[in-house]
Amino acid sequence: MSVVRCDGIVQIYKAHEVEVVALRDVDLVIDEGETVALLGPSGAGKSTLLWLLAGLLRPSAGRLWLNGADIGRLSQRSLDRLRAAQIGMVLQNPARNLIGYLSAAQNVTFAQRAVKRDRRRAGDLLRRVGLQDAGDRPAGRMSGGEQQRLALAVALANKPRLLLADEPTSQLDERSGAWVVDLIKRAADVDGTTAVVVTHDMSVSEALGRTVTIRDGRVGAEGRRGEDFVVVGREGAVQVPPEYHHLLPPGSMARIEELEDGIALRRAEP
Ligand SMILES: Nc1ncnc2c1ncn2[C@@H]1O[C@H](COP(=O)(O)OP(=O)(O)OP(=O)(O)O)[C@@H](O)[C@H]1O
Ligand SMILES: [Mg+2]
Repeated sequence: MSVVRCDGIVQIYKAHEVEVVALRDVDLVIDEGETVALLGPSGAGKSTLLWLLAGLLRPSAGRLWLNGADIGRLSQRSLDRLRAAQIGMVLQNPARNLIGYLSAAQNVTFAQRAVKRDRRRAGDLLRRVGLQDAGDRPAGRMSGGEQQRLALAVALANKPRLLLADEPTSQLDERSGAWVVDLIKRAADVDGTTAVVVTHDMSVSEALGRTVTIRDGRVGAEGRRGEDFVVVGREGAVQVPPEYHHLLPPGSMARIEELEDGIALRRAEP
């Protein structure tokens, strides 16, 4: 079964009478146990998509299924319950994931409140992110990097079916970044956790099974096993990747040439 299904998702923010279209017509299916790196330039809509997948936002248009449930049809209460039991999230700002006055260990066990408390799992998670000796320290007094690692342990505390992590290694060095990657892959292998990870870090995206690139609010490209593909969107729209803009700049015209197995675009002077 697919854990995530987006069908023509549109997200519009309204701020001071100005509308910002953050996502337009996003179609995306993610199956159980997949690990997906969400890539794209700043402002492309990555965090917005993650917030939607977390059920923290409801889409302006389009439909979104999480674990087979159409979230547009769920009451707020059912959605809250689904989130607490099945979704683990690491927000882009590490401190916002934690309760500052609680210890590292308390933060992890607090995240298990919707399921059965499991202190052994909590200890194991802290050890895997290198915080075995930090169990008693208040989260609010930890460094940004420690908070970021703790945030992942918290997000995985209740064996979520879906892990959503927004740049979980942005404040980490290579070694602790590798712990984070290991933990995400381990969750996928051992617990069948599906992961969607926003990242600018090549070592993270290369370690995950699939890449999805968002540009200007659309899914522009996907990659599997090191190969990148452009995605043909609704109505046949294709984004020319930036590395080809010197050959076919945005706004230029192209001639379409039919080939046996597809088409070629050639720059044309109108
Ligand atoms: N709460 C909000 N109100 C208004 N506009 C917003 C809000 N949140 C995001 N946006 C706008 O939506 C667009 C997408 O933002 P988003 O945060 O999803 O991008 P991102 O890909 O995560 O970028 P970054 O890599 O910088 O984190 C941007 O144009 C942003 O300014
Ligand atoms: Mg973001």
